[in-house]
Amino acid sequence: MRLVIHRDSDKKTHSSSWSLSWEAHCKEQGIPYKILDVFDPGSFRTIMDHDALLMHFSNYSVRDMLYARPILYAAKQRGLRIFPDFFDSWHFDDKIAQSYLLEAADASIPRWNIFYRKSDWQDWVSQNSEWPVVAKLRTGSGAHNVKMIHDRGSAIKYGNKMFSRGFKPNPSVFFKSTSNIRSVKSSEMFFQRARRVPEFFRTWLAAREFPNEKGYVYIQEFIPNAGFDLKVVVVNGKLGYLARRVRHGDFRASGSGDIFYDHSLIDRDLRDQLFDVSDRLQSVCMGFDIVIDEAGNKSKIIEMSYGYAHSAVSKAGVLWKRDGELVEGHLDAPAEILDFIVSY
Ligand SMILES: Nc1ncnc2c1ncn2[C@@H]1O[C@H](COP(=O)(O)OP(=O)(O)O)[C@@H](O)[C@H]1O
Ligand SMILES: [Mg+2]
Repeated sequence: MRLVIHRDSDKKTHSSSWSLSWEAHCKEQGIPYKILDVFDPGSFRTIMDHDALLMHFSNYSVRDMLYARPILYAAKQRGLRIFPDFFDSWHFDDKIAQSYLLEAADASIPRWNIFYRKSDWQDWVSQNSEWPVVAKLRTGSGAHNVKMIHDRGSAIKYGNKMFSRGFKPNPSVFFKSTSNIRSVKSSEMFFQRARRVPEFFRTWLAAREFPNEKGYVYIQEFIPNAGFDLKVVVVNGKLGYLARRVRHGDFRASGSGDIFYDHSLIDRDLRDQLFDVSDRLQSVCMGFDIVIDEAGNKSKIIEMSYGYAHSAVSKAGVLWKRDGELVEGHLDAPAEILDFIVSY
């Protein structure tokens, strides 16, 4: 088994890139690997000479979003094992695609709606009596592109903008910095985050290349909740999690940086539901964002992504197996992926 691990040679590798962990694990386990930039001219010929291609492609890079999947799927057609494979990656960073798919899989999700015509949106707004609703751009993470619409007037304004100029999908520097500063709990944490400012700046620069999102309105029902959301991941038949408090005076948790662990939040029902959904999606590695309804204790999947902050999930210190067994240990997603690729 000879692996190719993609690493972009003209960008500084982000500290959260899975390619760093893959390389470390390959070295540790003596698995032959080659670091290669799939965007180098002629590199596809080298890829075809290997048995597997691993690519942690990013939603903040236009190049990754346009070309990673064609390269991966072509490599698969050639007979290589790939990560992420089709079922985990075709809907990556596209909440509209995910909603269709999760609905098709009978998953527990918030009521949602998509409007591709301004007149349809206006009709819906004039008839709707349940406010607020949550409006999202198709793309983005860290809650940058998620907002609450409180009333009819704001809904009309939002639609007017989505059906004209649209919104920039890149992260907001102001939102990111205020979230980060507010959730700092110690001076060590402050310096840790300060060291990552240049990294965020590079991400922000790259993400500015994306065109405006427009031509649709995508909404979800607002789920009143107990002030946090969960990231529950199912990878290679194992389940792990982290919990995130919402920002102060805000309903949004993702990107708040205020992470905590409480194993009792991950009950049997939720675990069974996610193992089930992950099977129906034919998924190998998926992070599900979950909001728990304050009233009914019912959990709903609000979005999903094959890539996530794996080290924060591993810090939970536990993982569950499909049969319900709780194991003390660190769920290491890149290592699980490597195991999966090498063994199937
Ligand atoms: N339908 C919803 N009801 C209540 N809160 C929500 C809903 N959708 C999103 N949120 C909150 O907003 C945050 C960001 O939404 P999410 O869809 O996960 O976008 P992102 O891709 O930016 O993480 C979530 O972490 C959650 O706290
Ligand atoms: Mg999210």
